Amino acid sequence: MKNPTTKRNRWEDHFSRQAKKENFPARSVYKLKEIQHKYRLIKKGDKILDLGCYPGSWLLYAAELTGKEGLVVGVDRKPVSINIPSHVKIYTCDILSIEDEFLQSMGKDFNVVISDMAPPTTGNKFVDAARSSDLSRAALSVARKVLTPGGSFLCKIFQGEDFKTFSDLVKSIFNKHKIFKPQSSRKASREIYIIGFGKN
Ligand SMILES: C[S@@+](CC[C@H](N)C(=O)[O-])C[C@H]1O[C@@H](n2cnc3c(N)ncnc32)[C@H](O)[C@@H]1O
Repeated sequence: MKNPTTKRNRWEDHFSRQAKKENFPARSVYKLKEIQHKYRLIKKGDKILDLGCYPGSWLLYAAELTGKEGLVVGVDRKPVSINIPSHVKIYTCDILSIEDEFLQSMGKDFNVVISDMAPPTTGNKFVDAARSSDLSRAALSVARKVLTPGGSFLCKIFQGEDFKTFSDLVKSIFNKHKIFKPQSSRKASREIYIIGFGKN
């Protein structure tokens, strides 16, 4: 007989419990915290665009880092329902079909574009990696349009066939680039983060 708690136990790990305790809606906040502690990506007063922001952990943490002098704009195709500080704005839309006009209405001259977008997984690593690659390329395309010169880009991608090409593309657009696998990322996950510092 199957143990009904097995699946829940798998997900209810240390980081999920910690997120609940600290009032973040998802454990993913610790990935951004690790990246922030290592690279100091987000600064007080910054203007941040958060792509794939639902349920809102990165949004809340980014808003803490920028403070009220800054602005955090979040986008997801799912509506976000958490309470947000006054310097956070949220739009519900699909990044794969976003129009330039709509993008412009969100503002420009962002200091950092962060993307934690992920496709619904199918279990087929080739399909999942291809869909993740599409999302990463869409995020990079948005970043190129809205980042201020010298701005930075953080993007999740599932490692697959397109990973090296995408990583090289980021390298060619930014002054410096890094690849980072947070400890809080599940070991079995093929996700990894690419960071581009200083848009050319
Ligand atoms: C891992 S979750 C993000 C978690 C978030 N960083 C947080 O800390 O709360 C990935 C998100 O990407 C979003 N997403 C996937 N494809 C998208 C698309 N085409 N346009 C906008 N959002 C998308 C999903 O709806 C999902 O909410």
